[in-house]
Amino acid sequence: MVMPKSEKAFLRNGEQGIYAHVVGWGMAVPDTVMTNHDMEAIVETSDEWIRTRTGIAERRIASERDSTASLGLRAAQRALDVADVLPTEIDLIIVATSTPENIFPSTASLIQHRLGAVKAGAFDLSAACSGFVYGVEMATQAIRSGSIATAMVIGAETMSRVLDWQDRSTCILFGDGAGAVVLQASNAPGGVLSAVLRSDGSGADMLSIPTVGSEDLSNSYFLASEHRMFKMYMNGGEVFKFAARVVGESILEALEKADLTLDDVSLIVPHQANMRIIQSAARALKLDVSRFVSNLDRYGNTSAASIPIALCEAIEQGRVKENDNLVFVGFGGGLTWAAMVLQWGIPQGLEGYSGSRIKRQRRRAMYTLAHWRTRLLRLSRVINQFANRLLGRDEHPEE
Ligand code: ACO
Repeated sequence: MVMPKSEKAFLRNGEQGIYAHVVGWGMAVPDTVMTNHDMEAIVETSDEWIRTRTGIAERRIASERDSTASLGLRAAQRALDVADVLPTEIDLIIVATSTPENIFPSTASLIQHRLGAVKAGAFDLSAACSGFVYGVEMATQAIRSGSIATAMVIGAETMSRVLDWQDRSTCILFGDGAGAVVLQASNAPGGVLSAVLRSDGSGADMLSIPTVGSEDLSNSYFLASEHRMFKMYMNGGEVFKFAARVVGESILEALEKADLTLDDVSLIVPHQANMRIIQSAARALKLDVSRFVSNLDRYGNTSAASIPIALCEAIEQGRVKENDNLVFVGFGGGLTWAAMVLQWGIPQGLEGYSGSRIKRQRRRAMYTLAHWRTRLLRLSRVINQFANRLLGRDEHPEE
């Protein structure tokens, strides 16, 4: 919903609190399914080993036509449909990813122009598998400050493109996909209640994808090890121990910040890395594992996309209800970890679920317009340059 200017001003003046609510959600995964049996043809492994050690049975793999931006775009469009929000109403787009299309331009900018979100700022966020929770917290703070009213946070990955397909201890774990949420400002209490964001760079060598810059770092831990340019390296055993510890700790910390306890929590949506990590967190917190969402068996670890994908499926399965307290918890490269508590529910006045047909058609028209707008803008830049050269005009008058 576009908040009227007067209401925005009112919110900024802050007589009542401003809260950030999730009002839309969407996911997209590639069509290609790679099973554990398919994996057996690539590396020395077995379906039995992968299932028992990780809980994964299959994962989705991007085709040549898929990219981090195209998967993120599809998830974002679905989230806009659920929220019944127009792309022109978005103020900020954050894409959490470890597999951006480029160092720059950001994948967020690519999605922004394909959506036709002409009023939005856009940037990528690098916090590995914790990135989605980091992104939602950044958007929440921007909303709560009164600076923006509507944000899109996307977790999108094409992990298959950075895997070392000869390393059986990592390539069997990951998959591709994207998930997105729309957050909106409201005076109604609820939405994101608390968050805990953490990092420990001393563990950088446990999990990495070295890229431009790494080679020049003298004494880099990357050079003396098995880390390869643009390929994922992971010390699985150490990451496992780290993850098993921080998941429980950060959930409790986020709950304490929200003045809640585990008894108040309906559902935990954890990063999907390994079923044994989820089981170990459940044991540590003395919770039944059914309180945790898991879809690892079908998607593997989709890094920053795993929490929003699991959230979308939990909603679809009817596991998320009005006023439920949910916890998101992520961990990964950095090392980073993050937990967040949300009270679920779309406040009256925010338009989620309504899905008006006219607005849906306007969104479709805007996507088509965005497509042609880009082409026209690029063409006009070329024509301008050509005309300047023809007329002998200085293209850089300031220099
Ligand atoms: N198939 C068959 N055997 C295998 C495979 C495989 N795919 N991979 C490893 N093995 C072998 C090993 O070589 C080893 O054999 P050895 O005993 O003869 O040396 C044996 O299985 C046991 O290996 P471990 O590494 O001890 O196996 P473990 O039970 O620890 O499982 C795993 C490995 C699945 C990687 C686990 O450590 C793990 O899940 N770690 C956490 C990963 C994670 O959470 N990552 C999240 C962050 S991701 C991000 O931020 C991008």
